[in-house]
Amino acid sequence: MEICIHDLWNEYELIDCGNGRKLERFGEITLIRPEITATDKPHLPNAEWQEMANAEFVETSKNSGRWDIFKQIPNTWQMTYNSPSGIRLTAELSQTTSKHIGIFPEQIINWQFIERESANFGHESFLNLFGYTGLSTVFASNFFDKATHIDSIRKMVEWTRRNAEYSGRSNIRLITEDAQKFVEREIKRGNTYDGIILDPPAIGSGAKNEKWIFNEMIENLLINVNQIAKRKSFIIMNLYTHSVFGMDIRELLHKCFPNHNIEMCEEVKSTSTYEGTISHGMFIWMKRI
Ligand SMILES: C[S@@+](CC[C@H](N)C(=O)[O-])C[C@H]1O[C@@H](n2cnc3c(N)ncnc32)[C@H](O)[C@@H]1O
Repeated sequence: MEICIHDLWNEYELIDCGNGRKLERFGEITLIRPEITATDKPHLPNAEWQEMANAEFVETSKNSGRWDIFKQIPNTWQMTYNSPSGIRLTAELSQTTSKHIGIFPEQIINWQFIERESANFGHESFLNLFGYTGLSTVFASNFFDKATHIDSIRKMVEWTRRNAEYSGRSNIRLITEDAQKFVEREIKRGNTYDGIILDPPAIGSGAKNEKWIFNEMIENLLINVNQIAKRKSFIIMNLYTHSVFGMDIRELLHKCFPNHNIEMCEEVKSTSTYEGTISHGMFIWMKRI
């Protein structure tokens, strides 16, 4: 599936991409960042990219690098998303020591799924595992009595607290914990959720340094997630691979969620203003009605 995020959210624009980089506008600020899936040639010359951009993240090794600043850039700035039904989500953005800035704009299609589908499910509880800066948690909190946000890094949980405040939400439970441990505890406590979203990284670590290795642990986590999903529930997941243990993703989903229907399980790509494309990996939407 190909999307143009700018058509859904005019504050964001993938202006151009290619040669392993992307040029994006986030509200008032334009950035150049590495993008492994930008394999085509860019449309605009490099000089024009630099003219437009406030800064570029230059990778010096895997997962680290530096920001080269071309134009003044505030320490933090905001973007606001107004959804079709009038939900207002305010995101705080800032340059971090990695190339990430607190937002994955492609998540907008997950927010639209939540907005569209939540009326078909119970309204009690929503859970975000590996929740990062919490934009999906904050957005979903508009449709549920309580939204629970799990991330292993305290700084991310604090960032989520600020995003919730800017967006006027106060029904969010913020927990700094290992996602797997949290789910195991919820099984023991008998707590269940109407909607669950998860974006497990390839490698991570829990709040007490518990290791997370996607390829080794995803099946067990998903089996456990199924146990805390209510009888009637939806699951949203982002994956960056097409197969796990050589198993097709659909096979894994059928094994771990035997009672949910797969509404979407496909790679989502973004098109730039100049019609280049980058990939956002697999988007998965499942429902049990
Ligand atoms: C790829 S990001 C998720 C992005 C999010 N879906 C969004 O759109 O904003 C992965 C997050 O998982 C967290 N994380 C990594 N290992 C974890 C673990 N074992 N338990 C909980 N969170 C973990 C990281 O701190 C990071 O914030």
